[in-house]
Amino acid sequence: MISESLLARVRTTLKGNDTGTFIKPSPGQYPHQWNWDSAVIALGLSHFDPARAWAEVESLLTSQWRDGMVPHIIYHHGPSDYFPPPDFWQTAGLARAGDIPSSAFTQPPILASVVRMLLERPSTSGLIDDATLRRHYERMLAWQRWLHVTRCPDGTGLPCLIHPWESGADNSPRWAAILDGITPVDLPPFKRRDTVHVKADERPRPEDYARFVHIINLGRQLRWEPAALLARMPFLVQDIMYIAILHRADEDLAWLGARLRADTREIEGWRASTTAIFDQRFWDEKRGLYFDYDARAGHRIEIASYAPFTTLFAGLPTTAQAARLVNEHLLNPAEFAPGGPLKFGVPTIAANEPLFGPRRYWCGPVWVIINWIITIGLRRYGYADLADKLAADTLGLVEAQGFHEYYDPRDGSACGAADFSWSAALALEMAA
Ligand code: SER
Repeated sequence: MISESLLARVRTTLKGNDTGTFIKPSPGQYPHQWNWDSAVIALGLSHFDPARAWAEVESLLTSQWRDGMVPHIIYHHGPSDYFPPPDFWQTAGLARAGDIPSSAFTQPPILASVVRMLLERPSTSGLIDDATLRRHYERMLAWQRWLHVTRCPDGTGLPCLIHPWESGADNSPRWAAILDGITPVDLPPFKRRDTVHVKADERPRPEDYARFVHIINLGRQLRWEPAALLARMPFLVQDIMYIAILHRADEDLAWLGARLRADTREIEGWRASTTAIFDQRFWDEKRGLYFDYDARAGHRIEIASYAPFTTLFAGLPTTAQAARLVNEHLLNPAEFAPGGPLKFGVPTIAANEPLFGPRRYWCGPVWVIINWIITIGLRRYGYADLADKLAADTLGLVEAQGFHEYYDPRDGSACGAADFSWSAALALEMAA
């Protein structure tokens, strides 16, 4: 149930972050459009301004590159005080780029799943015509094809990420060993702006931030040419959350294709290849967990994170694997459950991992989007009570602390940016 007071606070937050063309993730820290933020913000909007929800989808898709990629940051209104500014990416004149200035790589492709959710809501479904929907379908199809084909170096259809920012979880300890092996050289001059808005100890460490910039600089030198990126980038990762979100997006895109009477065999092919390889590449039978894969080094990255739980969202685990994920890990107070060192779940890194950092961005804090994805996954596997409890606890956190970017799992205190759009939007989703 959505209370009037929650609805009013969400409206105020989203209105405050509304630029007219798109909704910013937060007022100061992130003043442009972010890919997966916009997608889930549309879900929140659907509860009180369904036409605006579709406008958010439209504005994201207008940024699509000619080669199919939908970029992760879109600078609709030009530069701001955000670093990196649009020209830092050096995409001007690239034939494959889009018409709107943007970053040169992408982010988790949750959009097709959001579009399906919007179409399944009576309040929203009647507000889009078939021609527009078909155009969205073609664009999402091209993006997902780009991921399965252009971003896949090994013929499996599993895409590789070339920068930690593509994962959405920039400084996750999942990427620490790879980042530690990267020594920035010839860095272009730059000035971080993120620590102006948020305390430095809640943001990526300076050495990691320098590596983020270094990897962007390498991409610029390769003119963002996809084959060169796959061959040369030092960060080349198959991220289980990213792939789970894509797998679910394939399912939802095929659903949309069937509704539009399109030929969905290509999408079904992607689903079959991902299903065929997922366990072999990522499942660790001894630990009862999935691990990301360092495709450059050719081995798994054995860090216990929130990411395995997001595979439930995509229906990838068997019921037996799901039971192990839930019983041995999600409900384990030494790792992810409240009752040990933690009062709130789900931390983004297990509490007993050496690199657990409860206030530092993706090193441990609770994120509303992750809890929302996990609740949907739990319901898919029949853990409705657990999903209800996680949704209620997350709403409690948001009610007590406000719509923050992330929360310390030890005491629930707020971290990161305030007035955070997706925390507001997804609070409505979970309440509904
Ligand atoms: N999350 C990045 C930042 O903090 C960019 O995607 O700036």
